[in-house]
Amino acid sequence: MNTEHKNAFGMIGLGTMGSNLLQNIADHGYKCAGYDISADKVAALNKLNPEAIQGFTDMNDFIDSLSSPKVVMLLVPAGKIVDGVIEELLEVLEKGDIIIDGGNSHFIDTDRRFKDLEKQGYHFIGMGVSGGEEGARRGPSMMPGGDQKAYEIVKPILTKIAAQVKGDPTVAYMGERSAGHFVKMVHNGIEYAIMQLISETYEVLKNGLHMKPEAIHSIFKKWNEGQLQSYLIEITRDILAYKKKGSDHLLLDDIKDEAKSKGTGKWTSQAAMDLNLPIPIIDIAVSMRDLSKYKDLRTKASKIYPDSEDFQYDNKNDNHVTKLEQAFYFAMVSAYAQGMHLLYRANEEYDYKLNLDLIAKIWRGGCIIRSEFLEDIYTAYQKNLKLKHLFLDNAIHQNLVESIPGIRTVVSEAARNGIAVPAFAAALGYFDNFRSEDMPANLIQAQRDYFGSHTYELKGKEGTFHTEWEAGN
Ligand code: 6PG
Repeated sequence: MNTEHKNAFGMIGLGTMGSNLLQNIADHGYKCAGYDISADKVAALNKLNPEAIQGFTDMNDFIDSLSSPKVVMLLVPAGKIVDGVIEELLEVLEKGDIIIDGGNSHFIDTDRRFKDLEKQGYHFIGMGVSGGEEGARRGPSMMPGGDQKAYEIVKPILTKIAAQVKGDPTVAYMGERSAGHFVKMVHNGIEYAIMQLISETYEVLKNGLHMKPEAIHSIFKKWNEGQLQSYLIEITRDILAYKKKGSDHLLLDDIKDEAKSKGTGKWTSQAAMDLNLPIPIIDIAVSMRDLSKYKDLRTKASKIYPDSEDFQYDNKNDNHVTKLEQAFYFAMVSAYAQGMHLLYRANEEYDYKLNLDLIAKIWRGGCIIRSEFLEDIYTAYQKNLKLKHLFLDNAIHQNLVESIPGIRTVVSEAARNGIAVPAFAAALGYFDNFRSEDMPANLIQAQRDYFGSHTYELKGKEGTFHTEWEAGN
């Protein structure tokens, strides 16, 4: 086959993401190929754009259809399936070919695969892809990491299919080895945190302030036009207006209150714990998804523990909604700040060579956590690439200070009224400790030394010390 008639890009896994991404690639003038074990999926793909997209159920035919170096991207479920497909690919690819894992793989798996494939002479890119179905079709945000030379080869295609923000594509080389998947994992951790904050906001509006769906919808609509503008607020606005044809109530009200997850949020918390780096809003978001699954226990407890009946929200002149907007801003900033702090620390530990400004830049469009605030994050890191924590940026500091009254009111009113806002509370608790020169951790050190002779250090004095505490009583 003449090379120019060959396909420039191959995709394994023709689920919604794979098939939409191929259509996006074809829209930009590239011939491409898709492979899947499901004949139905291949048949469906072959109907989409036969001039530019070819579907295959035979691996050899699929690989033969690609120009060299062959570029094959995997969009298959994370875990063993990725290893299985790579093993199969090694039978048919040649050294120098490029494998891109575009799924939500765990970064430790990506490290292992990168090393194995490098040893064998293949190029491997672990790439986070965000934006869901619509993103894949119209422009996702992509976080490639690993083999930089290979990235340079696929860069022209990825740059064209990415979303564009102010003329810049939302794709960039993130860093070495598993950097791309680590960044995507943290993206998802922030996604979990913001989704939890939105659900708590909805809870305050619905069960605290007893607002009707139309009023709640209007609030999200208004917020999406201001400093809280973001994809997640935007879709929440739409969900809060969606009724099935002929229905008198929101579809949302019929949906079970048990949240599922595929693990990326949990991995973010695990990775952060391993690095001793606090990201409590993300941790709470993971835990509350888990708690939501204990429906039977919650149902039993709801029968034996009373609601808080003594208090009522003070909602004069919509005051509380304004406070809630401030509180959301405060906690959202904190969720991003914790995620970025984790990236900063991971970069030190794993020597990924990350650029935090570039990460903020490519998250401004295409991905699930895209938001107006990412412009501020981008600006902060552009001003100071070595910025250790977003709370220490001048502009962010200013806005954060202005929103403190909001978060204090929302957390305290919710506590008084028995409305659960654990992510807001975590944001406030994290902040109040973060801004404390003195934390009560001295007492923890004393306790550790008391029961376990773990020793402690003294202010202004070198060395470690131990006390026979019981003897002093
Ligand atoms: C994205 C999303 C996506 C993720 C879903 C579901 O950036 O497009 O992060 O990659 O798979 O959001 O994640 P959970 O099932 O864990 O909620």
